[in-house]
Amino acid sequence: MRHLMSPLDFSVEELDRLMDIASDIEKNRDKYAHMCDGKVLATCFYEPSTRTRLSFESAMLHLGGRVLGFASADSSSAAKGESVSDTIRIISCYADICAMRHPKEGAPMVAASKSRIPVINAGDGGHQHPTQTLTDLMTIRSLKGQLGNMTIGLCGDLKFGRTVHSLINALKRYPGINFIFISPEELRIPDYIRIDVLDRNNIPYKEVIKLEDVMSELDILYMTRVQKERFFNEEDYVRLKDFYILTKEKMDMAKKDMMVLHPLPRVNEISVEVDDDPRAVYFKQVQYGMYIRMALILTLLELV
Ligand code: NCD
Repeated sequence: MRHLMSPLDFSVEELDRLMDIASDIEKNRDKYAHMCDGKVLATCFYEPSTRTRLSFESAMLHLGGRVLGFASADSSSAAKGESVSDTIRIISCYADICAMRHPKEGAPMVAASKSRIPVINAGDGGHQHPTQTLTDLMTIRSLKGQLGNMTIGLCGDLKFGRTVHSLINALKRYPGINFIFISPEELRIPDYIRIDVLDRNNIPYKEVIKLEDVMSELDILYMTRVQKERFFNEEDYVRLKDFYILTKEKMDMAKKDMMVLHPLPRVNEISVEVDDDPRAVYFKQVQYGMYIRMALILTLLELV
């Protein structure tokens, strides 16, 4: 039995296969419509979510399966003090596969160690968010035709943004990747990523504060929200929340085929006027998220 805790749980070849399945699903939806008949997905979300939870549920429903779960800690027995280890033992009796989001780093890993069904990390604190990364890789591969040989700028909250941490880990394995990290001093990527992931593997990167300084170099711009819920005090959040706002003027400085991704939800960091720019692909990204989650469910349930 296999779980998904980090994008590194899959080799590059396995990721390719997963994306091939997702592309096939995109083209031949009917072929997959009953592959999960009789199967049940549990979504155990101890933290807010719109896309991730609903895209998992939608993915399972499109495969013919059924879904159950809870959308907040206070609507589950966590409010009574039940541990994640106990909860997953119970869920293992009700469902065939579980997607779990939790504010504590490592909680889905603890669950996986006690589970009788595959557990998918749907976001653990400020740590990792592997299925968002699968979505991001799928979007880039589908729209750019490849995953290597590009300069990717990650902008915003690089300290607390778990989507950023997972994406760096995944992309470092492709040739010709050059990272540019764009953040205020306080929200720089954590040392464990800079030292253990980038320096150790000799991955080229630079860190800058101003987006304008690097806009023309980028093939991909990955915008992120300042992660309000992970700040220790409101004052710091208020000071940093509007540090970056992507506008039409800034888009004018970018390459004609640059692409803007965002895991969403967006707050103020991308002006709505940018949505109509064909290079803004963050809403297309959501669609790819459902296909790749369908492919993931099928793979973990060993149905493909
Ligand atoms: C992200 C998350 O939860 O980390 N959202 C998502 O799943 N698409 C990004 C965010 O909340 O900023």
